[in-house]
Amino acid sequence: MTKGEQLYEGKAKKVFSTEDPELLIVSYKDDATAFNGLKKGTIQGKGVINNRMSNMLMKYLETKGIPTHYVEELNDRDTVVKKVSIVPLEVIVRNIAAGSFSKHYGVEEGVVFKSPTVEFSYKNDDLGDPLLNTYHALALGLATEEEIKLIEKYAFGVNDILSDLWRKYGVILVDFKLEFGRLSDGTIVLADEISPDTCRLWDSETKEKLDKDRFRRDLGGVEEAYNEIMSRLEENMK
Ligand code: TMP
Repeated sequence: MTKGEQLYEGKAKKVFSTEDPELLIVSYKDDATAFNGLKKGTIQGKGVINNRMSNMLMKYLETKGIPTHYVEELNDRDTVVKKVSIVPLEVIVRNIAAGSFSKHYGVEEGVVFKSPTVEFSYKNDDLGDPLLNTYHALALGLATEEEIKLIEKYAFGVNDILSDLWRKYGVILVDFKLEFGRLSDGTIVLADEISPDTCRLWDSETKEKLDKDRFRRDLGGVEEAYNEIMSRLEENMK
């Protein structure tokens, strides 16, 4: 499988065509942004870590019955994925209050929820990815009712599977963002990435942040945190 034309460059990844119209190659960059691109920087080695971590987690999720776009890791930064049309919803699952939830609802970061939550944002950078509910998504034709039900089922499934996995490695899965896509036959699969860019991951003992919040909040030790969280996974998941 070889890279063809570059189809798209996003904030953290580039996407290339391949000789197979149903497959794409994604290439992970070290570029980091936050606050809808207002804050820009580089996290050395992030692309390699996010590529490998996302692939390991997606492969694991497949074994547990969650369909994903993952096909094959080509090298440190490049992965073959199934071509999808992205459902323009950011699907956020939370177990513990943090980030925008804490801000919106005045709940201190670290408060453990009685039950996990799911919320949707409209994936639209010009609008700053505003929150929207199921009725809004249906009204705008972003997804069908059946698709939304399936997406919620998969999102909570991913939460159960990955919370258990990370717990074994001394890490709390606080919250995360997923994106889903439709294959050419309409099948919904998990797409995009699962990485420290898209999850909040805290050390179970110290509650130290091992994710992109270190970059967002200028906490320092960003590369160290990415390396630490990756080594927890690699040492345990071989
Ligand atoms: P939030 O608390 O800022 O809404 O973030 C919730 C989760 O979603 C957190 O794990 C980080 C992730 N996230 C992304 O993956 N991309 C984004 O653009 C944002 C804002 C959050």
